[in-house]
Amino acid sequence: MTVLVTGATGRAGRHVARILRAGGHPVRAAANEPGATGPWDEAVPFSFTNRGTWDAAFAGVDRMFLMRPPQIGNVKRDMLPALERARQLGVRRVVLLSLQGAERNPVVPHHALEKWLRGSGLEWTFVRPGFFMQNLSTTHAADIRDRDEIVLPAGDGRTSFVDVRDVAAVAALALTEAGHAGRAYTPTGSRALGYGEAAELLTAELGRPIRYVPVGPLRYWRSARGQGMPAGMTLVTLALHTTCRLGLAAGVTTDVRDLLGRPPIGFAQFVHDERAAWLRVPGSVGDRPATATDGRRPTARNGG
Ligand SMILES: NC(=O)c1ccc[n+]([C@@H]2O[C@H](COP(=O)([O-])OP(=O)(O)OC[C@H]3O[C@@H](n4cnc5c(N)ncnc54)[C@H](OP(=O)(O)O)[C@@H]3O)[C@@H](O)[C@H]2O)c1
Repeated sequence: MTVLVTGATGRAGRHVARILRAGGHPVRAAANEPGATGPWDEAVPFSFTNRGTWDAAFAGVDRMFLMRPPQIGNVKRDMLPALERARQLGVRRVVLLSLQGAERNPVVPHHALEKWLRGSGLEWTFVRPGFFMQNLSTTHAADIRDRDEIVLPAGDGRTSFVDVRDVAAVAALALTEAGHAGRAYTPTGSRALGYGEAAELLTAELGRPIRYVPVGPLRYWRSARGQGMPAGMTLVTLALHTTCRLGLAAGVTTDVRDLLGRPPIGFAQFVHDERAAWLRVPGSVGDRPATATDGRRPTARNGG
């Protein structure tokens, strides 16, 4: 049976599609961007906010990877009508990319999605990851690439970073195996790191010194906005890094090992695999990365 992957051009969705396809499962990519190419069998134009795109996307699928696009804050208005339609058209299993702690935090949009799914009669699984390592190779890549700095309001707090490939592997398992309905998983890395240590690992990989510059909320706000990050996303990232500064983002689980039967991908492996994101092209510093590791440039849409 074909699996519908929403956000298939995004950081998590692209890996979900790749893993499903490698396992022999036909994948239909729901792509906001028309004509998107990637590791899938077919792509259909799709937007949660464009009713005219829903039926073709949902017809003939019984399971779906569901992600909330970062720019959608009002889930009730902008996502639930599409999910109602998906249910009417026969989607039965939904694996939601949620957020660590979403069950305790009614402010985050994932909370409303989880609530709706619990009452929907569908088979649901919540994947609630910690902070993606890949934020450093997308959202925060320019600081490292162009100025050799990680500039964040995270103080000395530690974060239980998770590689998005592990998040995607957990989601793909829940989409294809029996036994995950009604469960919530929190994939994290095997240990929490401070940004000073993250900078040391980047230094070792890139062969040039990268430093961590802890800043206050105001300086972060000005710097992120100055680089074009939308206000809403700047607020969300500020809140996430404040959580880290307060020591609340360091919780580690064994979910990746328990579900995948192998340890989580470590931070050193991540920086090795994604090093192209921080390499400078001679003569074009501040312009563009040498290559984007996952084929995407950091944009306002893929910011977190
Ligand atoms: N970053 C983290 O550390 C972290 C941690 C835990 C949870 N999360 C959650 O993970 C989600 C982000 O996942 P991600 O990083 O994979 O996202 P991403 O890389 O920012 O990708 C966003 C995807 O959403 C698609 N999209 C945008 N607007 C859409 C619309 N109206 N209808 C349908 N699709 C639309 C985009 O398509 P186009 O490319 O065509 O625009 C893209 O494929 C968020 O809900 C976030 O809160 C993130």
